[in-house]
Amino acid sequence: MIMVTISSTWYLFLPIILSLCPITLCASVLEDLKNLHQPPDFNSTIFSNCLKNPSLRYCSSSPMLDLDEIFKFTIVASHLCNESKNPNCVESFPKVDLRNRPNIAPLYLSFDFFWKYCPLSIMSIDLSNNSMKGDFPTDVLYCTQIQSLDLSINAFSGDIPIQSFSPLTNLTFLNLSYNCFSESKLSDSQFFKRFNSSSFLHSGALLDQKRPDFLPSKLQRSRRFTPAILKAATNDFSNKYLVGKSDVVHIYKGILRDGTEVKIEMYWDDIPRDSYRKFVEECKVLSKLHHKNLVRFLGWCRSRKFRAIITEWTREENVEMWLSGSGPPWNHRLKVLMGVVACMRYLQEEWPEVDYELNTSSILLSDNVEPLISRFKVGDQNSNRRKIHGFGVFLLEMILSRKVQEEFDGGDAGFIRFMRTLNLADLKQMIDERMKVTETIFHQVKQALSLGLMCIDQSNSDKPSLAMIFNTIARAYKASHALPSANHRFKRHMPVQTK
Ligand SMILES: *[C@@H]1O[C@H](CO)[C@@H](O)[C@H](O)[C@H]1NC(C)=O
Ligand SMILES: *[C@@H]1O[C@H](CO)[C@@H](O)[C@H](O)[C@H]1NC(C)=O
Ligand SMILES: *[C@@H]1O[C@H](CO)[C@@H](O)[C@H](O)[C@H]1NC(C)=O
Ligand SMILES: *[C@@H]1O[C@H](CO)[C@@H](O)[C@H](O)[C@H]1NC(C)=O
Ligand SMILES: *[C@@H]1O[C@H](CO)[C@@H](O)[C@H](O)[C@H]1NC(C)=O
Ligand SMILES: *[C@@H]1O[C@H](CO)[C@@H](O)[C@H](O)[C@H]1NC(C)=O
Ligand SMILES: *[C@@H]1O[C@H](CO)[C@@H](O)[C@H](O)[C@H]1NC(C)=O
Repeated sequence: MIMVTISSTWYLFLPIILSLCPITLCASVLEDLKNLHQPPDFNSTIFSNCLKNPSLRYCSSSPMLDLDEIFKFTIVASHLCNESKNPNCVESFPKVDLRNRPNIAPLYLSFDFFWKYCPLSIMSIDLSNNSMKGDFPTDVLYCTQIQSLDLSINAFSGDIPIQSFSPLTNLTFLNLSYNCFSESKLSDSQFFKRFNSSSFLHSGALLDQKRPDFLPSKLQRSRRFTPAILKAATNDFSNKYLVGKSDVVHIYKGILRDGTEVKIEMYWDDIPRDSYRKFVEECKVLSKLHHKNLVRFLGWCRSRKFRAIITEWTREENVEMWLSGSGPPWNHRLKVLMGVVACMRYLQEEWPEVDYELNTSSILLSDNVEPLISRFKVGDQNSNRRKIHGFGVFLLEMILSRKVQEEFDGGDAGFIRFMRTLNLADLKQMIDERMKVTETIFHQVKQALSLGLMCIDQSNSDKPSLAMIFNTIARAYKASHALPSANHRFKRHMPVQTK
C-alpha cells in the first residue's frame, strides 16, 4: 500500500529532473548539485505532493519548506536510486545498495539533506564493505521505516546510538559486524536481545554472550579482559564507580554486562616490557587458584597505559571490623580460623609459590561468615616461616582483647615474655571478654593461645608445622560444633564468665 503511494509521489518529482537532463542523469551527483536549478513550477509540484501525501518527510519540515534543500534532495535521490541498481528509478526506490562501493558510499552518506528527507519507499540500506571510518552514521536512522540495515565490514567507531534505534520498529535485519565500536553498556542489553550475536560479530560492541566476562574463547582460557570490557563495566572509569585510590592504584567496583559485580584494581604505572611479561605469567598462575576461602581471581588486563587485576566483588567487611563490632562468640571465631588454615594448607600443597597476607584487615568475610584471603601474589617459595608467623599474629588477634594487643608494639620477643609471666587467672583477663568464655571453651582458647605464641616465637627454631596447626584448629572446630547447646546449659546453671 505504502509503496504504491510513495512511488506515485516519487514519480511526480523525478520527471522534473529528468526533463532537465535528456539522458537520465547528465553528470556526477556533485556536478548536478552545482549546476541544476529548480524549475519555475517546482514550488507548486512540491505543495501538491504534500497535499496528496502529507506523510512525505519533506512536508513536515518546519518552519517552512526549504525548497532549495528539497530540490537538492531530489537530485541526490535520483542518482542514489540509479547507483543502487533499482529496476525503475522513475517509479520506485526500494533500496540503497552501496555494498563494496568505497569510492562513492562516503559521499552519499555525507548528504545530510538526503537522509533528513529519506524517501519512505526505501526498505533496505546496505553500506557494507566500504572501509568507512568515524562515528556511527546516525543520519541513516532518519529512515525509520527500513527493515534491513547493513553496515558491516567498515571501520566505524565510538558508541552505537542504541536509543536512536527505538523508532525503527520494522527493522528485522541488522548487521554491524566487523567494525570498531566501543564495548556496549550493561543497560543496553535489551537491544542486544532484539538482534542476536550474529549481527555484532567482531564489532567491538559485544564480545561473547556466553560467559560473564564475555570473552572470545581464546582470551577466556587465559582469563584476559580487554580494556573495552573494563571501560564498559565502569562507565568509562567514571568516578561513580571509583571506590578507592592511591598514587599507583585506582580501585573500581565494576559491573559486567551479565550483572556480575567485580573489583577492578587498575595500576597506572609505567613498567618495562620484561615486568609486563612477568605480570602476565603471574596472572596466569593466580587464575588457576581455586579455594572457597580465597577471593576469586577472575582475570587480568594489560594495555600500554595500565595493568589491571579483576577479582570477585565481596562484602566490604573485614575481620578487624567484625571483631570490633559485635564481639563474635568463640565458635564463630573458630570457623574463621578453620577457613584460613584450610586455605593455607591448600596453597602450601598446590601453590607453594603463592604468597599471601594474613591480617585482620586483609581477611574479608563473605555473607555466611566464611573468611576470604584477599591479598595474595606470586612470590617466594621459601616463605613458610613468615606465613606461620603471620598466622600466629592473626590467631592472637582473634583471641586477645584490644588492650593486650597494644603490647605487640614491644615486639614479638617482649610480647612472648610478657605472656609467659601470666598465670591462668591473669590470662583469662587478657581474652576478649565479649566472647563470654566458659570453662569448657577456656580450655580450647588456652590451647589456641599457646599455639599462637609458638608460631610467633622467633627463638624457637622449629615452629609448629602447618599440618600440626591444621589438626589443632580442626579438633577445636569439631568440638565447638557440639558446644552451642552445652554452652547454653552451662551458662544457665553456672555463668562462669571472665569479667
Ligand atoms: C545509472 O546506473 C547505471 C547502472 O548502474 C550506470 O551505468 C550509470 O552510469 C548510472 N548513471 C548515472 C548518471 O549515475
Ligand atoms: C510558492 O512560494 C511562495 C513563496 O516562496 C509561496 O508564497 C507560494 O504560496 C508558493 N506557491 C504555491 C503554489 O505553493
Ligand atoms: C569487499 O570489497 C573488496 C574490494 O573492495 C572485495 O575484494 C571483497 O571481496 C569484498 N568483501 C566482501 C565480503 O564482499
Ligand atoms: C512498520 O510497518 C507498518 C506496516 O507496514 C507501518 O504501518 C508502520 O508505519 C511501519 N513503521 C515505521 C516506523 O515506519
Ligand atoms: C540469528 O538470527 C538469525 C535469524 O534472524 C538466525 O538465522 C541465526 O541462526 C541466529 N543466530 C544465532 C547465533 O542465534
Ligand atoms: C554480518 O556480516 C558478516 C560479514 O559479512 C557475516 O559473517 C554475518 O553472518 C552477517 N550477519 C548476519 C546477521 O547476516
Ligand atoms: C595489615 O594490613 C595493613 C593494610 O594492608 C598493612 O598496612 C599492615 O602492614 C598489615 N600488618 C601486618 C602485620 O602485616
